[in-house]
This record gives sequence, structure tokens and C-alpha cells, in this order.
Amino acid sequence: MPKRILRCTIAATGGNPNSRPAFAAQWLQGARRALRTLSTGLLCLAAGAWVNAQAQSFPNRPVVMVVPFAAGGPTDVVARMLAVPMGKSLGQTVVVENTVGAGGTLATQRVARAPADGYTIFLHHMGMATAPALYRKLSFDPLKDFEYLGQVLDVPMTMLARKDFPANNLTELIAYVRANKEKVTLANAGLGAVSHLCGMLFMSTIGVDLTTVPYKGTGPAMTDLMGGQVDLLCDQTTQTVPIIRDGRVKVYGVTTLKRLAALANVPTLDEQGMKGFEVKVWHGLYAPKGTPREVLDKINGALRDALADPGIRQRLADLSSDIPSPDKITAAGLKTHLDAEIAKWGPVIQKAGVYAD
Ligand code: MLT
Repeated sequence: MPKRILRCTIAATGGNPNSRPAFAAQWLQGARRALRTLSTGLLCLAAGAWVNAQAQSFPNRPVVMVVPFAAGGPTDVVARMLAVPMGKSLGQTVVVENTVGAGGTLATQRVARAPADGYTIFLHHMGMATAPALYRKLSFDPLKDFEYLGQVLDVPMTMLARKDFPANNLTELIAYVRANKEKVTLANAGLGAVSHLCGMLFMSTIGVDLTTVPYKGTGPAMTDLMGGQVDLLCDQTTQTVPIIRDGRVKVYGVTTLKRLAALANVPTLDEQGMKGFEVKVWHGLYAPKGTPREVLDKINGALRDALADPGIRQRLADLSSDIPSPDKITAAGLKTHLDAEIAKWGPVIQKAGVYAD
């Protein structure tokens, strides 16, 4: 009979430990407690072994890559481009799923609450860094609820209008918009989307407030721009390069300080007088917090393989998108960048007083 248990029991019952019935009851109680401790330990060991086995056999079914905007848009284009080579590298299909709404925050919430087993991963852009400032009541924390798989891509934007819009260059666009601000519409992918941020920067630069039209992604916004239902859209080159080349929209400038190789005859907004107008959209790949390290390493390896694939590199170069250096396609690379971007955007958004809720 272990002494310690007997002593605990005396303190708890306050009875006479030397009476036979009391001794038996105390003994039973102690034995039960010991059994409970033992079974908890065994359960922990079994659970640990199960998690290890799951991590080792990962992936044994398809992996879902969640995209926070509509199908056909720029984030979706990147996800589908990566899904095939990542799937090849993992030995399992990577399925892209679009969870849309609230400027990408619905999808972010879904992934934050998904099982941390590696079968749900998340491709998002810099909206991950702006959401905490734009949405004051978020149900997730980008710095606490995720594991970081690596930076993915940097993508420039382009300022566009429907094909038959009256203005033929930036000077004419600014004059037309100033004179017709009540009737000009500017599409975006919802509050906090990069098309929204780029549009706000454009309006504040020329000192005009336009009617904005939110969509669930710039995929459907672009369909309406080409159909003439909306007038203007600022969108990423991962969607716009082929559409600009085919002449299906009018382009007024690119949002980088240098011209883009893929659109060499399109001037920058900066060189046309909008000094310092610069927007480049960075992307990252995430998993729910608590995903086992071994699983994260496998997914990171697949991401690196995909971004090293010569075919993918060529296709991304054709869309003027930059692949980060290898040290950035890492958990630390993405986390460091996300920290810095949250610190950068928080004060800017607070100062502007623009909130999504
Ligand atoms: C999209 O994929 O639709 C865009 O990335 C949305 C946006 O403008 O942020």
C-alpha cells in the first residue's frame, strides 16, 4: 500500500485510517486513481503513436487547397497552377476549393478551424496581413492560428477599364473620372481584397470617390468588366496579362515602379505622374495550427518542387510574377514577412479610418 496515497486519503476523509473498512475504502480509492493515471498515460502514448503514424503515412488521400476568392480569378489561377506539380510531388491529388466571401476572411476562418492534419492547406495573399486592421472583430488570428509553409509569389497589378470606356490614356482617365464621378463604377473583390486596396489608393491619389462594386473575387468582376457592366478594375497580372494582350480591356498602367517584361509597352502609373504608386501582391501558403512538423515539411517540399519546375517558372514569368528566393519559401520566411506586413498595414489602415465591419 503506497504511503502517499494513504496520507492523501486521510486528509480527504478525515476518518480513522486504522479502522478496517476505512483502510479498505482508502486502498480501493488509491488503486482506482493509480489505474486512472496509468490508463491516461497509455492513452497519451497511443494517441502520440497514432499521430506519428498518420504523419508518416501522409498523404494517403487528396489534400484540399482552400482559395479565399472565386474560381477563375488570380488567386485561383495560382492555386490551380501549383496544385498539379505539388500533387505529383506528394503522390496524391491536390484539390482546389474556393470558399468565398467577406474579402477572404470566411476562408481564413474555415482553415483556422480545420483539422490540423495537413489535408487542408490555404493559399492567401497579403489580405492575411491587412484583415486584422480592416476587420475589428475577426474570429481568427493570423499570428496564432496557423502554421507557415512558405512565401509563394509576388504579383503586380494593372489599372483597367472596360474596352469601350471613353478614356484612352491615364490623363484622359483622370479627367473623365473627375468630371463623371457620379456615374463611374469601380469593381473590387470585397473589403480587404487587394483590388479594393489598389482602388482606394487610386481614388485617394486623384482625390475622387467613386461608387465601388464588390464581387466575390476578381474572376467574376473581370467577367462583368469585359461585359461592360462595370467601368474600372485594378487587378493582378496573373489574371490580366492574356486579357490585356487580347485587347479585351483597356489598360492605363502597371502598379510597379519599373515596366513589366510581359507588358513592355504598358507604362507604369509612376512614370505617368502618379509618383510612388506601387502595389505588389505577395502570397503565402498556410496550414492550421498544430499540423505535425513532419507533414509541414512534406508540403513545404512539394511547394519548393512546384516552384522549381521549369514549366511553372516560365508560365509565372509570362504573367510577370516573381518567385521568391529559396530562403523565403520557408516557414520562417513567411512568418517574418507576415509579421512585418501586419506591422506596416495596421497603422496605415487605422490612420485612414477604413474598416470593413
Ligand atoms: C482574387 O483572386 O479574386 C483576387 O486575389 C481578389 C483580390 O483582389 O484580392
